[in-house]
Amino acid sequence: MPHLMNTYNRQPVAFTHGEGCRLFDEQGRSYLDALAGVAVNTLGHAHPRLVAALTEQVGRLIHASNIYRIREQETLSDRLAQLAGMDEVFFCNSGCEANEAAIKLARLFGHGKGIDNPAVIVMEHAFHGRTLATLSATGSRKVQAGFEPLVSGFVRVPFDDLAAVEQVAANNPNVVAILFEPIQGEGGVNLAHREYVRALRRICDQRNWLLMVDEVQCGIGRTGVWFAHQHSGIRPDVMTLAKGLGGGVPIGACLTAGPAAGLFKPGNHGSTFGGNPLACVAALTTLDVVEHDGLMARATALGAAIRGGLREALDGVAGVVEVRGDGLMIGIELDRPCGDLVNRAREAGLLINVTADCVVRLLPPLVLSDAEARQMVDVLGPLIRGFLGA
Ligand SMILES: Cc1ncc(COP(=O)(O)O)c(C=O)c1O
Repeated sequence: MPHLMNTYNRQPVAFTHGEGCRLFDEQGRSYLDALAGVAVNTLGHAHPRLVAALTEQVGRLIHASNIYRIREQETLSDRLAQLAGMDEVFFCNSGCEANEAAIKLARLFGHGKGIDNPAVIVMEHAFHGRTLATLSATGSRKVQAGFEPLVSGFVRVPFDDLAAVEQVAANNPNVVAILFEPIQGEGGVNLAHREYVRALRRICDQRNWLLMVDEVQCGIGRTGVWFAHQHSGIRPDVMTLAKGLGGGVPIGACLTAGPAAGLFKPGNHGSTFGGNPLACVAALTTLDVVEHDGLMARATALGAAIRGGLREALDGVAGVVEVRGDGLMIGIELDRPCGDLVNRAREAGLLINVTADCVVRLLPPLVLSDAEARQMVDVLGPLIRGFLGA
């Protein structure tokens, strides 16, 4: 056995290479990838433009240090700020780090307002990462158990429930920010209503709180807009990104606007690897291809087709609670735990995931073809029916 810590229940398969939305294992078997490394491989595998850009950059400069100017990072910060309508960007390497930066910003902001014990409102079923602060912000006992004492300063409310936020607002003078996912990923592909997102924006404006959106999973074009909160027509004060940003190369980002901008000063925060030239070229190229190839419009159309196809295939099947999602972030909720579907699908040549025990989750690359989308439905429909004994 390899000397790996036992942190994952790994499936009995290893991949040697990929192309587009296909992965190939050590036996040469091919799989349709409907998971994209959990929303990471935006451009699928071995995308020619990403391969060329990275190869060129590797031969020139992989890493210098954030103690010097990094031109690729400056360009990427301009690009992200423009796409999001935000002011500043801090680069790191992962989603949890991006959220750590957001939580630190909220605390700095609170102390600036004279609040000694600043608190952040977070949601039930949220997932923000596995560092101590982000697992404390996460709404899952499974993620937290055994790691107590948790980091303090989080107030939890039910997701998509405005009255609960208003109640905290009325009673807790320490609150300085709200942190939430516009679409909860790990929590089961749960969509916040657009009016709810707009109402959170209004509450934050009225109370002088920071509105902080975690777009680590739902961002980067997956729901048909660059960032899922843009469906609601609001601008957050803090936004976190990772996963799909680098198309597979690790990079995370924390963006700020308005009252959240300018809070960090030299010495407050940092990262050795964050935003190195290689990672920034990966992100710049990923963003370019998403825009140039119209992949956001594709995500909208393909998502609607897949959801429609699945609804049709599963129509009237007892045990199917709901087919939901936005763009290429899709959940099929069943009325029972369905982890075994992951194995059955893999054996049928399809890579999927089950989250929150009962929700089949699809997060395919944005370069999915129409035929591949149909194939996903054609494989998954009968598999789910069979699993439910329909
Ligand atoms: C919404 C969200 N935030 C944060 C994270 C943590 O990201 P990472 O695993 O890169 O630390 C995840 C990972 O699944 C996520 O889905």
